[in-house]
Amino acid sequence: MTKHIVTTDDDQAIRKVLQIMLRKEGFDVSACKNGDELLAILKQDSQNIDLVLLDIKMPGLSGFEVLEIIRRHYPKIPVIMLTAFNDLDTGMKAIRAGASDYLAKPVRREELISCVQRVLSESELEQELVAEQTQYKAYQKELEDKLHDALSILENTTRATLEAFSETIEQKDAYTKGHCSRVRNIVVALGRALNVSDEMLQILEGGSLLHDIGKIGIPEQILNKATPLNEEEEALIKMHPVFGERIVMYIHLFQSYRPIIRSHHERYDGKGYPDGLKGKDIPLEARITALADSFDAMTSDRSYRAALPTEIAVEEIKLCSGTQFDPEIVDVFLDKELYLL
Ligand SMILES: [Fe+2]
Repeated sequence: MTKHIVTTDDDQAIRKVLQIMLRKEGFDVSACKNGDELLAILKQDSQNIDLVLLDIKMPGLSGFEVLEIIRRHYPKIPVIMLTAFNDLDTGMKAIRAGASDYLAKPVRREELISCVQRVLSESELEQELVAEQTQYKAYQKELEDKLHDALSILENTTRATLEAFSETIEQKDAYTKGHCSRVRNIVVALGRALNVSDEMLQILEGGSLLHDIGKIGIPEQILNKATPLNEEEEALIKMHPVFGERIVMYIHLFQSYRPIIRSHHERYDGKGYPDGLKGKDIPLEARITALADSFDAMTSDRSYRAALPTEIAVEEIKLCSGTQFDPEIVDVFLDKELYLL
C-alpha cells in the first residue's frame, strides 16, 4: 500500500524539493507550510498518514510544539525533524522529545529516502508488535476466563463430592448425624482464630468433613454397638484412620486431606493412634480436628451414652490440655468460646 507522508516547512522551495524526491520513490506526499496546517490535516485524516517530516524553525507553532502535540494525540505516527545544517544538539533534542530521527538541511536525496524507509519500517514493526500484544492480551484474558470457569466447576464438584462423602459416613453411623459438619464448623473457626493461611483453611474445611471416611470400612453393627466393644472390635475401629487414608489415596482432589484423615486420633502426649505421633509431629490440621472431633463427640448422643452438657465437655477439654490436645489450640478454643458454636 502506498505510504502517505506529510511534509511541513515554511520554505516553499524545500517543500517542493522534498515532495519531488519522495514522489519519485512512490510515496504519496502532502505538503503543509506551517504547524497549524499540519494539525488540521492530522485532525481530519490521521488514520491515513504514515509519516510526518517536520521543520523545526517555522513561524507560528515551532516544530517542537507541533511534535509535542503529535506525540500526545497521534502517538502512532512517526516524525522526522528537519534541522538547520549541522545542528547536532537540536537533532538530539528532537529525538529526546519523541522524534524518530532528524535530518540536517539541505537534505540529500539518498539520506532522505533511506531515513524515511527506515523510520517507516520501524514504525510498521512497532505497530505489528502492538497488534500482536493486543491480540496476546485478549487471548490471555480468554484463557484466564476459561481457567476461572474450570476452577469454579472443579470447586463446586469438590464441594458436592465432599458433602456426598460426609453424608455417606453419617448414614453409616446413625449416631454421628450432623457430626462431620459440626466438626467442620469448629475446625474452620479454630483455623481462623489461629490465623492459618487460606490454603490451610480449605484443607481444614474439606479434611474435617472427611475425617471419618474410613468408617465406611467398619461393619455397622460394630459402629452402632450399644454395649462395650471387645478387644478385636476396638482394634478394628482404631483402623478407621488407616482405612480412610487408603480410600482417598487415589483421589487427587483429596490428597491434602490425608493428614487429617490419618492423624485425627493422635494424642499430644503420643498415646494416640494409628502412629503414636507426639506433640508438633502431629500435623497442625490433625491437632485442630482432634479437639473439634472429641468436643463434638462428647456433646452428642452416642450409642453407648447420652450427650454430655457443654460445661462438662469444656472441663474435660481443659483437663486433657497438653495430654490429649495441643494446649495452644485448647487455649484458643476456650479464649474464643468456640464451644458455643
Ligand atoms: Fe475418627
